[in-house]
Amino acid sequence: MTELQPLFLRHLAQTSDEPLLLEITHAKGCVLFGPQERSWLDLISGISVSNMGHGHPDIVQAVQEQAAKYMHVMVYGEFVESPQVQYATWLANHLPGEIDSVYFVNSGSEAVEGAIKLAKRATCRTEIVSFQHGYHGSTAAALATGGNEERKRAFRPLPPDNLILPFNDINSIGQISHRTAAVLVELIQGEAGIRPADEAFIQELAYRCRVVGALLIVDECQTGFGRTGKMFAAEHYDLKPDIMILGKALGGGMPLGAFAAGKDLMQMLTTQPVLGHITTFGGHPVCCAAGLASASLITTELLQQVEEKGKFLEEKLHHTAIKEIRRRGLMMVVDLPDEPFNKAVIRRMITKGVVTDWFLFHDNGLRIAPPLVITVPELEFAARLLLESLDEVQKELHSVN
Ligand SMILES: Cc1ncc(COP(=O)(O)O)c(C=O)c1O
Repeated sequence: MTELQPLFLRHLAQTSDEPLLLEITHAKGCVLFGPQERSWLDLISGISVSNMGHGHPDIVQAVQEQAAKYMHVMVYGEFVESPQVQYATWLANHLPGEIDSVYFVNSGSEAVEGAIKLAKRATCRTEIVSFQHGYHGSTAAALATGGNEERKRAFRPLPPDNLILPFNDINSIGQISHRTAAVLVELIQGEAGIRPADEAFIQELAYRCRVVGALLIVDECQTGFGRTGKMFAAEHYDLKPDIMILGKALGGGMPLGAFAAGKDLMQMLTTQPVLGHITTFGGHPVCCAAGLASASLITTELLQQVEEKGKFLEEKLHHTAIKEIRRRGLMMVVDLPDEPFNKAVIRRMITKGVVTDWFLFHDNGLRIAPPLVITVPELEFAARLLLESLDEVQKELHSVN
């Protein structure tokens, strides 16, 4: 144990009995550094956040300059703060369809809460439809939309009137009705272990929403900002959602979430009641400055490289322990035989100097979501250590059985 680890366990609220417990002294590019000259290649971007790597000079400069100019000056939505305005303008120019109004909040969950409120307010309906194995956050309304009953049971009653349908099941779409305020969907389910929505399913969903007058909310917390090889995953489907949920990489490493919609729709939060959604810190100027600096680094060339790098890594991963690989760009899962096997591989990789992780609803899947700027030699290193770890764990588990 280092000096800090017992204090971490004693004084920081824990989320599980088995935290990864890596102590980080500093981070640069795709590498995390710890005490006693330890270092780890970051294959998860903590999680799907640090798309431009750690300590990118443009992002650090943006943070430093904005912190020196001003930090918090007023609750969200009152003062004209240049980083918010500039970033919202950038987003309006890059988000799909007619979306041109951005409501900044502090996290992905909070963005989901805001979007659900907006949908209820706009449609005067109450039902929210979402999908099995989906994940939209841990706050009450976001949790209620989650597609995993085990994670909800202890916290009931949650906000009511949620209908959870099977994902990718076109036949169930007919259950979306004139009672439905909104349908909330991930285009690639992240915590379910990288499950892309079928093209036909999404097109049918969008059509059904139009027919019954429900709003389509697309959650791009994990898939946004180049992760899948497009700026937003909606582009893979040529989809124009009514509301988009953003988070994670949105803040370039600082805490930031947003829901975004067309101006007329968003305007509804200003009346009946006035101040329909408010937040003290939403759109913190330092976070917006960092987010804009990060988003501005996503070039067409980088987006192309994301797909190439993902393919490069996937092609290196051949092993009898690998059951399946699912991937879009650098959003990837390697399915292993079972949970103990997966956890043993993850622990072994950490010992060897590579950080990876599993998924909330997919215990036997190894998560690969590195910074988008990861280099080819780093990917070769990651692949070599993963294959080595698979060999070692396979031998070890065989010798036990
Ligand atoms: C798709 C998706 N939506 C929402 C969230 C919630 O975001 P946050 O943890 O910032 O509240 C997450 C977090 O993992 C997510 O993956």
